[in-house]
Amino acid sequence: MDKVVNLAKRRGLVFSGSEIYGGLANSYDFGPLGVELKNNIKKLWWRMFVQERSDVVGLDSGIILSAKVWERSGHLKNFNDELVECKSCHERYKAGDLKKKVCPSCGKDEFTKTRAFNTMFKTNLGPVATPTQSPPYQGGEEEGVVYLRPETAQGIFVDFKTVQETSRQRVPFGIAQIGKVFRNEITPGNFIFRTREFEQMEIEYFVREENWKKHFDEWESEMKRWIEAVGIDKKRVKYVDVPDSERAHYSKKTIDIEFEFPFGQSELYGLAYRTDFDLKAHGLDYRDPATGDRFVPHVIEPSLGVERTVLAVLLSCYDEVAGGRTTTTAAAKEKEIVLRLPRSIAPIKAAVLPLSKKKELTEAARAIRDKLAKRFMTDYDETGSIGRRYRRQDEVGTPFCITVDFDTLNDNQVTIRERDTMEQKRLGIEEVEDYLLANL
Ligand code: GAP
Repeated sequence: MDKVVNLAKRRGLVFSGSEIYGGLANSYDFGPLGVELKNNIKKLWWRMFVQERSDVVGLDSGIILSAKVWERSGHLKNFNDELVECKSCHERYKAGDLKKKVCPSCGKDEFTKTRAFNTMFKTNLGPVATPTQSPPYQGGEEEGVVYLRPETAQGIFVDFKTVQETSRQRVPFGIAQIGKVFRNEITPGNFIFRTREFEQMEIEYFVREENWKKHFDEWESEMKRWIEAVGIDKKRVKYVDVPDSERAHYSKKTIDIEFEFPFGQSELYGLAYRTDFDLKAHGLDYRDPATGDRFVPHVIEPSLGVERTVLAVLLSCYDEVAGGRTTTTAAAKEKEIVLRLPRSIAPIKAAVLPLSKKKELTEAARAIRDKLAKRFMTDYDETGSIGRRYRRQDEVGTPFCITVDFDTLNDNQVTIRERDTMEQKRLGIEEVEDYLLANL
């Protein structure tokens, strides 16, 4: 874990938020390479489950939804964590996390009674003032109260009818959404594993009640396909049936898809059978356009966290080669990091490297970069030995390095080096774009 966190910080993939003000606990920002990685993960998911499927359509609903949504969905009543406080040092914990009944902070064993703590972030819409407040006004007591969504799912449910009618989909079909969600977690931690602001990729898949098991199993297979495609080590993934007592209030069956993180096996994703709970709660139903059949569809929900994906991918793809992979220079004999990301999610697809800083070479290399940059995320690097530059790219997972040397000026060819095999081949400049298209 430390190695991955260090790499993420050192290369500006992920680092603490609000750092110039001492940091804000458990908040993280994704830097230039991190945002590329995250966007590529989201793009891959969208391509696999929206673009390539004719039975799933996309949506981008609001983050702030009417308070009525959360009342009806049961979140106001049920979206709680059991909170306990150490009577000695006042540190607060999720009751379920305290296995040994001893305060991890001070070692004492006396706690307050558990109380329910609603983890939705509450705020006010508009400049509603109450007489008890002095300016600047923060908002009224209950007037205009709204909640930041703790799951993207409810935006999908409340828009179900409009989306179904306008997209002319028939059950079974799904609505997919990617977006930020907020949870006032009692115990965030483990880097980006549990934070208070994160992104979800969710599908609500609407089915006839009698077919729920069949679709549930299909989505379990789809999640396996995803795990492989995104580069998560499937040997470290476990599928765990969640017992009745631990399931969310809306679920009749849930499988937690767990990953062996360095801090223990923990939830990576969830797959839930939400029954007709949500559509019923919002008073929505479905009329089949072909048969005229009217009923409330049941729902299968694969729910994925983007940041947990990033973490599991980094942990799965991080590789260290002791002694380095090449022995041509002193620098290469050092330990070498290779991030073996699937090419589809690598932040940079190709780095263009002139062999020396001579003007003829840098000009030729920049022209190649500029051309490729219209189609791919590229990098240009002219500083340091070529070995060091290869390693700089290897450790952030760049699949291809393109070297421009003095021969290039005569034969119009460059050398393409592949990250994992380190195989090098000469290719005409004009062929590079097609080569990348075919191999990314
Ligand atoms: N709509 C269903 C739902 O929200 P969930 O199990 O509460 O289910 C789904 O959350 C996924 O969101 C989790 O499997 C995990 O990947 C991610 N997730 C949940 N809480 C998180 C947190 N505090 N920080 C980062 N990711 C989180």
